Amino acid sequence: MQAININEELKYIEKVKQINNNKILKYYIMTMGCQLNENDSEKLCGMLEKMNYIKTERMKDADLVLFNTCCVRENAEEKLFGKIGEVKKQKEDKHTIIAIGGCMMQEEHILNKIKQSYPYVDIIFGTHTLHKMPKDLYKALEENKKIRDVIDIDGEIIEGLPISRKDKTKASVTIMNGCNNFCTYCIVPYVRGRERSRQPKDIIEEVKELSNKGYKEITLLGQNVNSYLSVEREKNIEFEEYEGINSFATLLRAINKIDGIERIRFISPHPKDFTDDVIEAIRDCEKVCKLIHLPLQSGSTNILKIMNRKYTKEQYLTLVEKMRKLIPEVVFTTDIIVGFPGETEEDFEDTLDVVKKVKFEQVYMFIYSRRVGTPADRMENQIPEEIKHKRFDKLKKLVENQIEENNKKYLDTIQSVVVEGISKNNENMLTGRTPSNKIVVFEGKEELIGKIVELKIMSQHMWYLKGKIV
Ligand code: 5AD
Ligand code: SF4
Repeated sequence: MQAININEELKYIEKVKQINNNKILKYYIMTMGCQLNENDSEKLCGMLEKMNYIKTERMKDADLVLFNTCCVRENAEEKLFGKIGEVKKQKEDKHTIIAIGGCMMQEEHILNKIKQSYPYVDIIFGTHTLHKMPKDLYKALEENKKIRDVIDIDGEIIEGLPISRKDKTKASVTIMNGCNNFCTYCIVPYVRGRERSRQPKDIIEEVKELSNKGYKEITLLGQNVNSYLSVEREKNIEFEEYEGINSFATLLRAINKIDGIERIRFISPHPKDFTDDVIEAIRDCEKVCKLIHLPLQSGSTNILKIMNRKYTKEQYLTLVEKMRKLIPEVVFTTDIIVGFPGETEEDFEDTLDVVKKVKFEQVYMFIYSRRVGTPADRMENQIPEEIKHKRFDKLKKLVENQIEENNKKYLDTIQSVVVEGISKNNENMLTGRTPSNKIVVFEGKEELIGKIVELKIMSQHMWYLKGKIV
């Protein structure tokens, strides 16, 4: 798929600067949801900074307030509406521009609610119109108009946006967008459009540039990351092979060769796309972390079928075993939803059983949340809230016990840690991560930030380890 030309759009960067008389203004951004949204926000920040806006952490100081939204679960909605209400007074006092973008804006009922209840919002943009932020902002400033820039399309690839990255040692690189799986609980396919992959050359150039800038760790992102180029291959959609890249496995192998990059991670994969070539590439590429996120969602074959996940409990466990055989040091994290419509005690026990068997390094647990427009929302056998919460608490207890037990294996081991920065909770300590993504805090000089150090693990806590330089 050809990337669309954004030069016309970027001309508005100059126009916004002019209309603001080249003044330096402040923006505040709040990002909800996944790392793909975080990566989109880095692009929004990149564009805003080119327009002479600088970031502030205090909403009340901002001339422009931006919300990049998520709609995967319900709690984000309450949070957003609270924030838009909060910023109203500020807008009345100092004409703050309010912009809202991202996944939630692709939902019609949310758009209608904003139009009716929060008409003072200046700019609304969706997941397919992020690159038009400079033009939308210009129009909002110039014509004092309310801009509603949401389109419902299958999706396009946008290249060449400026980017202002949050971290200096690790960086996210979106390699594909959209999802074709239509798991019955999930809103993503409706708000992010169909799967489409970036051209191999564009990805390699971005990673090389990151390496030149000193980045050590790359996380490849996609709603369905390990089906990179699958749709293109299946449907004969043209793409340009580059350095032998024509699949996710060959992409991993090519990135593994880039000097300066020390660690490669990827999220979120789908178990059905862990083909043998992908497993072999993980095994062979020394830079690919042997921590694999393998979303389970449910351990019950019945529920998995209704979820449209395309694997059974047994197939999931067989995949884990196969990966363990080929990659002895591999460990796993997962996502689990409790309380999907029709989930019985027996189904839930199956989920607990898989958790006990796999012994995940981390489990991201979610209570099923009804999403308007998805098949699961229309199912009649919804689970009462109190049962969902009871099951969630039971799963949480099991997971916490397992993590505590599991963390003991790190004691007295030597771990190589990419140093990310100063610890948030103790400014005399540094923080970094092991290849298995465990946070380690330790005493050390600031010069170590961005480097890799060898640490001996001295003690373990639920969410982090303490280490000592050796
Ligand atoms: N309710 C609860 N959790 C959900 N997820 C996706 N949709 C829903 C929903 N409707 C979870 C899945 C997914 C993760 C990103 O969010 O576990 O893997
Ligand atoms: Fe949602 Fe399933 Fe696609 Fe993941 S694979 S984004 S859970 S539909």
